[in-house]
Amino acid sequence: MPPSDTPAEAIKPKFVMVCVNRRFRADEASCAARQSRALADALEAGIRERKIDIRIERSVCLGHCQKGPSIRLAPGGRFILGKSIADVPSLLDELENLCGTNKEQTLPLDLLGS
Ligand code: FES
Repeated sequence: MPPSDTPAEAIKPKFVMVCVNRRFRADEASCAARQSRALADALEAGIRERKIDIRIERSVCLGHCQKGPSIRLAPGGRFILGKSIADVPSLLDELENLCGTNKEQTLPLDLLGS
């Protein structure tokens, strides 16, 4: 179910950007230090499994390092901050509600390679 603050006329996002930036100074926050790479992998697997009509991109710093991992819906979408692997099912539910699925573009296995 879309969040209540999402306007009905919101633009359908085409990309979900996940910051995987890592800073090598221990005193500087970074999304990779907060498991954003595993979060991106889990989101990507879920998007593929559910055939959600959105692409995932791993990104450099999105400018919210202190609140990461940082996720942004694009183009022009909102930030989703501070999520973890435990939040992936609800994030996938939200993406599926916003973007729908693209199951009709899946080719039957018997057509592949012919
Ligand atoms: S390191 Fe991820 S937003 Fe800056």
